[in-house]
Amino acid sequence: MDNVIVKVENLKKWFPIRRTIGELFRHEQKWVRAVDGITFSIDKGKIFGLVGESGCGKTTTGKLLMKLLEPTGGKIMFEGKDVTHLEPEALKKYRRSVQMIFQDPYASMNPRFRARDVLEEPLIIHHISEDRAEREKLVSRALEEVRLIPPEEFMSRFPHMLSGGQRQRVATARTLILSPSMIVADEPVSMIDLSTRAEILHMMKAVQRELNLTYLYITHDLSTARYFTDQIAVMYLGKIVEMGESDEIIDHPVHPYTKALIAAVCEPVSGKVNRIKEVPIKGEVPSAEDIPRGCRFHPRCVYARTQCWKEEEPQLVEVSSGHWAACRIFA
Ligand SMILES: Nc1ncnc2c1ncn2[C@@H]1O[C@H](COP(=O)(O)OP(=O)(O)O)[C@@H](O)[C@H]1O
Ligand SMILES: [Mg+2]
Repeated sequence: MDNVIVKVENLKKWFPIRRTIGELFRHEQKWVRAVDGITFSIDKGKIFGLVGESGCGKTTTGKLLMKLLEPTGGKIMFEGKDVTHLEPEALKKYRRSVQMIFQDPYASMNPRFRARDVLEEPLIIHHISEDRAEREKLVSRALEEVRLIPPEEFMSRFPHMLSGGQRQRVATARTLILSPSMIVADEPVSMIDLSTRAEILHMMKAVQRELNLTYLYITHDLSTARYFTDQIAVMYLGKIVEMGESDEIIDHPVHPYTKALIAAVCEPVSGKVNRIKEVPIKGEVPSAEDIPRGCRFHPRCVYARTQCWKEEEPQLVEVSSGHWAACRIFA
């Protein structure tokens, strides 16, 4: 237990929906239940993967952990302290320990900043170093950590003078420069050319091992999750439906949603061509404004029976040691 860096309990984020006149009169408020009560913990020095289709609440979870959003309910513990609600001073300190890498490094970087300025900015904001030469040294070291070598060559480049992969390396260097203990990486390679994805993930993992960092790695792609993560939580419409060691989840999935995600992974056939395997899943993710009763996955589940929507929502149960799943039929 001592090794836990972050622990989340029954965390919720509901966004209010703009009301119609009728709803205003009836004092009704509807909500988008983006994150609808999730519980998990991450051990120090581990990579925890949050996996699910678009719209399942992964980014919202990342932003809650980053404290870019205030939770509607639940609790976040970080390094043994309750950080659910923080005063501005404590929040600033927290933001040094927990950093985020976004999906689109281009959008998260000022186009008029050279790589050097991008990396210096957090040092200045957090008053880490008032001395220019010292800052330059730190910038140089961070660029070396993400294998942009020699660093002098990359320092003076603007974002448009970098490839997608190089931009994501600079974005990673920017998070490292504050020596964080945890990094939230939200789909860090999904906008990068397929040919450089593995290289970037490899670099991120090498840095993680070297500096004993903890990652929350967000992805819709189970094929990268297996290589990259130690643990996986599968999220569906704001809830975790399956969770455990990565190999165990991918080799012995229990929840029909996890099985469908695994089946959707491209399989290389006859060397070069990628073929999408048939997915045993119906339709698309419903809106988080209108979550189905009972098991929230039942309208799309090919195994659903009456009890799946008539009875209460299934909770996570331990199906084998450290492997949790929420399903009335299989768990
Ligand atoms: N600021 C917001 N206001 C209202 N709804 C939001 C907001 N942010 C996200 N949502 C909704 O919450 C749900 C989860 O979104 P998100 O966390 O971005 O999912 P994911 O990252 O898994 O694709 C979606 O239905 C999305 O439309
Ligand atoms: Mg997202």
